Amino acid sequence: MNEQVKTYHIVTFGCQMNERDSETLAGMLEDAGYIGAADKTSADVVVFNTCSIRDNADKRFFGVLGQWKKRKLSRPDMTVVVCGCMMQQAHIVDAIHRKYSWVDLILGTHNIHRFPQLLDDVQSRSEHLSEIWDDAGAVVEELPACRKYPFKAYVNIMYGCNNFCTYCIVPYTRGRERSRRPGDILLEIREAAAQGTKEVTLLGQNVNSYGKSPAGSEGYRTDDVPGGPDFAGLIRMIDEIPGIERIRFMTSHPKDISDDLIRAYAECRHLCPHIHLPVQSGSDAVLAKMNRKYDRNRYLGIIASLRESCPDIAVTTDLIVGFPGESEEDFQETLDLVETVRFDSAFTFLYSPRKGTPAYSSAEQVPNDVKHDRFDRLIEAIHRIQGEKSRLYQGTTVQVLAEGPSRTDAGRFTGRAESSKVVDFSGTPDVVGRIVPVRITDAGTFSLTGELVR
Ligand code: 5AD
Ligand code: SF4
Repeated sequence: MNEQVKTYHIVTFGCQMNERDSETLAGMLEDAGYIGAADKTSADVVVFNTCSIRDNADKRFFGVLGQWKKRKLSRPDMTVVVCGCMMQQAHIVDAIHRKYSWVDLILGTHNIHRFPQLLDDVQSRSEHLSEIWDDAGAVVEELPACRKYPFKAYVNIMYGCNNFCTYCIVPYTRGRERSRRPGDILLEIREAAAQGTKEVTLLGQNVNSYGKSPAGSEGYRTDDVPGGPDFAGLIRMIDEIPGIERIRFMTSHPKDISDDLIRAYAECRHLCPHIHLPVQSGSDAVLAKMNRKYDRNRYLGIIASLRESCPDIAVTTDLIVGFPGESEEDFQETLDLVETVRFDSAFTFLYSPRKGTPAYSSAEQVPNDVKHDRFDRLIEAIHRIQGEKSRLYQGTTVQVLAEGPSRTDAGRFTGRAESSKVVDFSGTPDVVGRIVPVRITDAGTFSLTGELVR
């Protein structure tokens, strides 16, 4: 290999949104002539794309960053970049200036398009730089991307969040809601499809409010474009794109689900029978304190309508335990909701106080031991139901998009069923990137095991 070629390594923390941003960062680096480093420790540019959703994300980042100090000091020519949600918080940037002054470039979430220029500035002037924008401004298009998989694409349809759930830092780190123009989204998906993408996942903090930002917001608004699609309309347009066989999206907020989206599950051939619909709590009192703007009954009503429209729909959710003021009765309501809905799986989180959010300063914080005790009981219910639902797949044949070889077993492959359930199966390498039928022979709580149907 040419020794002059410069290499990069990106460490991504957090959600799909960050994974997608990392694809953009990688695309920019490759446009500038870099290639992915075979050995991360020898990379010329190392980027840490951070997440601040919960306290453990902060701690993990600082832990990992600390491990790079020695490498950086022994190789001053290496450029260390930190970016992402954590950098939109002043106390974090302060901490980096004070304790990690060897970091070369600090970049926020709103100015990611400025990365190539800033990297160039840092390297040519060999000085440290930090550029954080408070606000996002217009939606920037035509950024390059180096996608992780050729057969599945994550596509942002909107950025930011206006919901201000009282526990959540995202509206502060990702800014106000703004939607991309339908034409730009469709173009990106058509191009991906032409290059072999079969599955597209539409990304946004609250995809249901696509095009519905208040007057005066940046970006696309249905009100400004007569006949312009809303979220369900956008799905219907993507459903027609040749080559796209699966459409997924995340995340949607229950308060904004439209009847048309529910109908789309019955009518769109490529919309996967799965919805990730975070409920957070089963208690009306807690939902109100969280500023979620729906109650338990409304949530149950949406689930019932979805199941009417799409009887096999898999429903997954997010749940928080130990939100300030949550009583044992409130928690019982959450357990009861879990038993009523019977989620196919759920992400469960211990409430984590985030500086700058309203819940952070609540006087009603739940003690740690109580939080953990509730968390354990919730996990027990979630896993029990998940296992029961999983066993229903036994003996059936599911369509799996094979993503690659299984991590644990040679000769086996891993992928996802339409429901998003992970499937491990025996097959041959030619399955990778294809949607193949798999007969399920064994069903565990977290994944299914099967054989390729020839
Ligand atoms: N503490 C715990 N969980 C949180 N989430 C968001 N903020 C917090 C917090 N401060 C969870 C929510 C959300 C998911 C992405 O992360 O459940 O849906
Ligand atoms: Fe956070 Fe609520 Fe916005 Fe989701 S909808 S990103 S939980 S504020």
